[in-house]
Amino acid sequence: MKQRHHPSLSSPTRREVLGLLALGAAAVAVGGCDDQAPPSPVRSVRFKQRLWIPPEARPRVDASGGWEFNLTARTGQREFVPGKATQTWGINGDYLGPTLRAPRGQQITINVRNLLPETTTMHWHGAHLPAAADGGPHQPIDPGATWSPTWQINQPAATLWYHPHPHGHSEMHVYRGLAGMFIIDDEDEATLPLPRTYGVDDIPVIIQDKRFGPDGQLDGSDHTPVGLLGDTILVNGTVGPYFHATTELIRLRLLNASTARVYNLGFTDGRRFSVIGTDGGLLSAPHPTDRVQLAPGERAEIVVRLASGEKAVLRSYRPELGTIPGMALISGGLDAFDVLQLRAGSSSRRSTAVPRRLSDRSPVDAGSAVATRTFFLAGRQINGKQMDLERIDEVVTLDTTEIWDVINLDAQPHSFHVHGLQFRVADVAEAQPPPLLDGRKDTVFLPPGVPVRLILHFADYADPARPFMYHCHMLFHEDHGMMGQFLVVAPGQQPGQPADVPSNHEHHH
Ligand code: C2O
Ligand code: CU
Ligand code: CU
Repeated sequence: MKQRHHPSLSSPTRREVLGLLALGAAAVAVGGCDDQAPPSPVRSVRFKQRLWIPPEARPRVDASGGWEFNLTARTGQREFVPGKATQTWGINGDYLGPTLRAPRGQQITINVRNLLPETTTMHWHGAHLPAAADGGPHQPIDPGATWSPTWQINQPAATLWYHPHPHGHSEMHVYRGLAGMFIIDDEDEATLPLPRTYGVDDIPVIIQDKRFGPDGQLDGSDHTPVGLLGDTILVNGTVGPYFHATTELIRLRLLNASTARVYNLGFTDGRRFSVIGTDGGLLSAPHPTDRVQLAPGERAEIVVRLASGEKAVLRSYRPELGTIPGMALISGGLDAFDVLQLRAGSSSRRSTAVPRRLSDRSPVDAGSAVATRTFFLAGRQINGKQMDLERIDEVVTLDTTEIWDVINLDAQPHSFHVHGLQFRVADVAEAQPPPLLDGRKDTVFLPPGVPVRLILHFADYADPARPFMYHCHMLFHEDHGMMGQFLVVAPGQQPGQPADVPSNHEHHH
């Protein structure tokens, strides 16, 4: 695949900033009210549509017991705005894709067929797998082709997701609708008394923001410094969604599948809930709170209680971006949105209480680290370099542990995501990580100037030719080069060049 060259965008243009300041001021002027200090217009939503629950993909079982899933990416249309057909992209449907689900230990094959007019890829975000199956920019799927990665599920129960990763085009492929949830199950999680009936008391909540033009089409033209910020919230592709609850406890698998927006989620009546899991699986114990903030790509599993007949509204409050106010204004930091209404029936089924212990997580062990690397994020670069598909930035050794010190040197927010593994956060600004970062993670938000220290263990999969990616998950930044590549090599193995022509097995239909 030919690499696309982007102009260097080290800072937003003056026109961008002025335009956004004007927009922000207009929004403030028409603003409603909020329980926080004004001006913070809450976009209140009329909850009129039943929340769409993506179907669970049904695998075909092959002769050796492997599961085979079929995903087809294609164009479609959806009526998000009444009376207007919006052109979309979707997987096995018009918008988003089915929920993949497989237990630990299961061998799976996913046939990803591309019926789109453009080359895409499909990446399994959060999955621990061989680099050849990762679906990053080195595994392109041309129009008409099918890519069939296969691997054995080798990680604890977790809420992962999948989305395209074609270099320079990830933002628009996700924005048009290509994304889905990927749930991993395991025996430890299955023995816990947690809500787990998919679509009944265990609900995918895929949060995205969109901007629709007057013609009802997705408008992807208006970039703030962080990327596209929409003014309409979709949950699972549903505008103004409500969910009809039939049980006392509801587990929400929250996924920020937006390209740039950070959400700070809580309930409008201040009710508390338990966070039970983060990106890579269950916390050691539930964390009671009234807010959970998610940057693009991050997940959290929460359990919330609803009394019979009650209604509760999940809202995104002003996110804590850690920037100066002017930057917050143009990065969505002053925005608040209603997201989802939960409506309890008049006779909810009793649920068992959330257990006090959830998982035995090994403690963060920085002592065994064999190397420390530093990653500076600034402009659209990491360590002063723009992404180059032909360049390997880091080489790590299989079965070792490393410390990665990550810091955002810009005035605007960034984030850091690593492919192929789950890491742990050792400290944030040299202090103990907050409870929501004290679990298995693959993506962390980076406020300006706050150093975050990660502990990574590179296990199971070495490949001297195929790299994994690390990048900012604000997809506008990723597309413009805020990404790097690392190889995992076996001890003594020499790193080779990343294969320019991917060696995946493509066949045409
Ligand atoms: Cu969710 Cu490299 O991506
Ligand atoms: Cu990823
Ligand atoms: Cu960024």
